[in-house]
Amino acid sequence: MRCYLFLTCFSSFEASGNICCRNEKISRCFASLSHNCLKPVHYTQNSSASTNNFSKEIRSFDRAMKKEHLIEKTARYIQQEFSHEGSGHDWWHIHRVWQLAQWIARREGASVFIVEMAALLHDLDDWKLSQPNEAKARKWMEQLGIPPNDQQTIQQVIDQVSFKGAGVDTTPDSLEARVVQDADRLDAMGAIGIARTFAYGGHKNRLIYDPEEQPVLHDSFDAYQQSTGPTINHFYEKLLLLKDRINTATGQKLARQRHQFMEHYLEQFFREWNNHEQPLTL
Ligand code: ADP
Ligand code: NI
Repeated sequence: MRCYLFLTCFSSFEASGNICCRNEKISRCFASLSHNCLKPVHYTQNSSASTNNFSKEIRSFDRAMKKEHLIEKTARYIQQEFSHEGSGHDWWHIHRVWQLAQWIARREGASVFIVEMAALLHDLDDWKLSQPNEAKARKWMEQLGIPPNDQQTIQQVIDQVSFKGAGVDTTPDSLEARVVQDADRLDAMGAIGIARTFAYGGHKNRLIYDPEEQPVLHDSFDAYQQSTGPTINHFYEKLLLLKDRINTATGQKLARQRHQFMEHYLEQFFREWNNHEQPLTL
């Protein structure tokens, strides 16, 4: 008996199509699956090997679909939680980190599912934004029914992302954490990093700059958390240090340009502050 397995495959895709039709990644996944499925299969008494292969493909397709579904649900939840955030940690910060982390993960060979989940959840329990011990990320992952091992791995990544002071070593111990940390740090640099820093300073009623207050290279997380210095100091306390603390080769390339842009910005800031401009038009 001769039959085309793509019919079975297609109906399996349609059954859950409401999620994946809108999803580019799943379309790609489907495209590769349907490519294999379109090959005619001859059912003979010895066809169990090809049937097994096909079942394997269907199972891995199902797993990919489930993961996509978990990520989409998490993205929707985070979008709601962060939609009115005014300190530079709004939904679009999370979205940028999520997209960038995913891209770096593919280039560096990290687990994309772990990286995507951790990137989406990375600021949910951040000390700057939430009450201590709320464990919102953990509760959300439990609600989604993510297997305990994956929950633990994702939580470990989240716990290792944050900057904790110039003198505090925060080098992550897994590739996934290095990727998410890089994506988060890259969003603290460059034009967007500058915008976010002033948004945060305004949100916390900080001065833009005070020549009488020097930057401090904090050597403990406690000291870093308690600092209330002007926003320009944050460039010297954190932002300009990031270039040399990016973990992945992919991240380092992006960091170079963003770092340079911040240096130019500061040069111009101090030129204006010190009245050292010589406008030709005056
Ligand atoms: P991290 O967890 O490493 O702190 P976040 O995603 O929480 O990373 O974002 C940190 C950003 O928040 C900083 O890069 C900066 O833009 C802003 N920020 C944090 N602390 C300060 C500060 N003291 N002054 C100005 N901006 C700050
Ligand atoms: Ni962040």
